[in-house]
Amino acid sequence: MQTLDTVAAMRQASARFRADGLRIGFVPTMGFLHEGHRSLMRLLRPQVDRLVVSIYVNPLQFAPHEDFDVYPRDPEGDSAICEEEGADVIFMPPPAGDPTGLYPPGFQTRIHVPALDDGRLCAKSRPHFFEGVATVVYRLFQVVGCDMAAFGEKDFQQLTIIRRMVADLEMGIDIVGGPIIREDDGLAMSSRNAYLKGVDRQRAVSLSRGLRAMQGALADGVTDAAALIEVAKAELEVDALDYLEVVDKDSLAKVGEVTRESRAAIAAMVGRTRLIDNVALVPRGAGS
Ligand code: PAF
Repeated sequence: MQTLDTVAAMRQASARFRADGLRIGFVPTMGFLHEGHRSLMRLLRPQVDRLVVSIYVNPLQFAPHEDFDVYPRDPEGDSAICEEEGADVIFMPPPAGDPTGLYPPGFQTRIHVPALDDGRLCAKSRPHFFEGVATVVYRLFQVVGCDMAAFGEKDFQQLTIIRRMVADLEMGIDIVGGPIIREDDGLAMSSRNAYLKGVDRQRAVSLSRGLRAMQGALADGVTDAAALIEVAKAELEVDALDYLEVVDKDSLAKVGEVTRESRAAIAAMVGRTRLIDNVALVPRGAGS
């Protein structure tokens, strides 16, 4: 396994792979890797000849008041995980402003997918976030030159936006969505779970409990979105609810009645930690 830390070195490695006719798979991450990231590597590994994992805490997707400076970092642990999962390359670009990195001095361009971003779900409280994500993912795709890339379904809005960007810009990259990986008690795995201590860790499970309760009510025949939302709310033990919505799985527009496969999505603060989660809502007879 190689560790590459400049855009030029990554581009060279990618050009060599491509010249040899090798298929490149890519898992972009912000590091502090967990079972969810491992599952994405395992998803791609058998389908590609070379597996690249990037580790980069992207400043563009953090607002000034957010946790960029304290975002958990563990480069050594991350390298060990990548090695265990059979990655060929770890790409760790230097910080923004470094001339050898993703955002050299003077970098200005942003990628924005308005219909799936502005005012929808996480963008309500994090209006800068998806522009930052789309911009870094576009840059990473350019540099890594991948044929396939995997993203977790936990960040369902992110996955939807990236699929749209890749289609709109005809990037020719297969985007694979990896199922949410959960702790034994149902909490969706996230690097930010490291912030949860004591009773907050226990209360955090209430997000997945609420979403599961919605699935249960739907299976019992409740299809009204407002009623389903009330079912979930009854389970929540959070400090502030950012949103709890039932949305169309493709357009992310709010749904009033679950008549075809939809998505229930939640974001909430537990203590000082913002958590997100989502589940598919598949009405009886709709299949998946
Ligand atoms: O999901 C993440 O970890 C990040 O948003 C991503 C896709 C690596 C972009 O920084």
